[in-house]
Amino acid sequence: MASLSDEISSRRTFAIISHPDAGKTTLTEKLLLYTGSIQTAGSVKGKSSSKHAKSDWMDIEKERGISVTSSVLQFTYDGACVNILDTPGHQDFSEDTYRTLMAADAAVMVIDGAKGVEAQTKKLFKVCTLRHIPIFTFVNKLDHDARDPFELMEEIENVLGINTYPMNWPIGSGRNFRGVFDRQTRRVLAFEGDGHANASKKVAEIEAELGDPAMDELIGEENHKNLMDDIELLDGAGDELDLDAVACGKLSPAFFGSALTNFGVEPFLKEFLRLAPTPRPYTDVISGEPVEPTRDDFSGFVFKIQANMDKNHRDRIAFVRICSGKFERGMTAYHVQGERNLKLATGTSMMADDRAIVDEAYAGDIVGLFDPGIFSIGDTVCAGKEHVRFAGIPTFAPEHFARISQVDTLKRKQFVKGMEELAQEGAIQIFRELGAGMESVVVGVVGVLQFEVLEQRLKSEYHVEVYRQPLPFSEIRWIEGDMDEKAVRALSLTRDTMRVEDMRGGKLLLFTSEWNLNFAVEHNEGLKLSEFGNVT
Ligand code: G4P
Repeated sequence: MASLSDEISSRRTFAIISHPDAGKTTLTEKLLLYTGSIQTAGSVKGKSSSKHAKSDWMDIEKERGISVTSSVLQFTYDGACVNILDTPGHQDFSEDTYRTLMAADAAVMVIDGAKGVEAQTKKLFKVCTLRHIPIFTFVNKLDHDARDPFELMEEIENVLGINTYPMNWPIGSGRNFRGVFDRQTRRVLAFEGDGHANASKKVAEIEAELGDPAMDELIGEENHKNLMDDIELLDGAGDELDLDAVACGKLSPAFFGSALTNFGVEPFLKEFLRLAPTPRPYTDVISGEPVEPTRDDFSGFVFKIQANMDKNHRDRIAFVRICSGKFERGMTAYHVQGERNLKLATGTSMMADDRAIVDEAYAGDIVGLFDPGIFSIGDTVCAGKEHVRFAGIPTFAPEHFARISQVDTLKRKQFVKGMEELAQEGAIQIFRELGAGMESVVVGVVGVLQFEVLEQRLKSEYHVEVYRQPLPFSEIRWIEGDMDEKAVRALSLTRDTMRVEDMRGGKLLLFTSEWNLNFAVEHNEGLKLSEFGNVT
């Protein structure tokens, strides 16, 4: 039987991030296909349903398909136990992606070779850098006309501020795409055949060495010459693959390929598994010390809560990233925020949309715990005598605000319950205006589609109809430190600045413009404002 440390060191847990349409789903699917975890392409996301109306919660869930309802895809390959944390594709649910990144040990950034770094990539990248996790780049769609690879690398470096180390180098693109040059083996992997027609199958790869006259035949004389020039330039730059820089997210190993035609997916996976980190320690905020994954006692934190995964039972599943030790179904663990012991009776693991019960899992893995409504995002569960508490998950600044009030004031209880549960789940952020009650709530979301989800879910799950009044705030800041309500009210602010409180009692200011934000800072000495919510 494998030891705890063997089990843990075989884990590789990562998330794939991209701007919508860059090819995240396709790459995920090809990884599963390649490793034999699924048999046919198209099983990852029902693409045909993805373009339908998005206003109905059920449809939204359908549309999100496994991209959201399943949280982790696990497979074993070449002795590694790989966990791909799934992130929703739609940008309006990017908050879920932020949280998922908190549970990942590495990220793979998929970039469309024709488009380069896009808005959503930038946003998600910022979260990765907060955690200093290794970031791997996969430049996709080389079978379509792509931009010059030097230009793409430069853009990543300039826009995202991370250096890249090309692990391989493309030979042409689009109709002229001939394959990639592997910088380690110094060989060319040739792209051949009609990949599109066989998109679900593996494309053959032929190997040949650079400089070999046979190469002229394989990739064309001109391509061969250009490639030799490019490689000379790259090698001449003298950069090394500095593994320490990779480990702390300062250098991104970059790969070129075409997920759709399966080209470059295998070499990417192999290198990725070689370079990707084993589960990293998370810091215990009580002692300030890192909790080693191999610590005997189980510990983990909730990074995502998913409601209604089973329509018949209306249950909630709290997804826990295991930070240390071993999880066993039925074990007792301490819920730190709830201050009590719990039996972790249901562990589920996701593969496609089957929910399989897991009996055991290890640091680096994700387990879905049955949640009768006690968990909030960021909560810690731990076994053993010594309790630990993880830093929780930063609350990201919402970008759209509305005042939500109930149509039928007699349904106050359901309204408050619904709002609180949906906020616990992280579907929305709710705020109470200082001095006001809960008859209306200020709601903040990252994407406007979340408002529609909120309305639909309140109606179908809590039988509450609401009014939505958009609010004109554009900047949101948490007040750092423990300022009490009285002090917040005494702040000197412009008239249209709103003072609110979040679910954890944190105080915030909502501004309608940057000018008003600057006013607050300039007119209140010592006032410290932060873009992120309190994480503990
Ligand atoms: P996402 O999860 O990042 O949003 O992207 P997804 O994989 O869904 O891919 C978006 C579109 O790009 C899909 O086309 C997909 O087939 C295509 N695509 C992905 N990788 C490649 C690639 O390497 N080369 C080419 N040429 N296309 C690629 P679609 O038309 O939106 O969907 P579908 O109808 O083809 O499924």
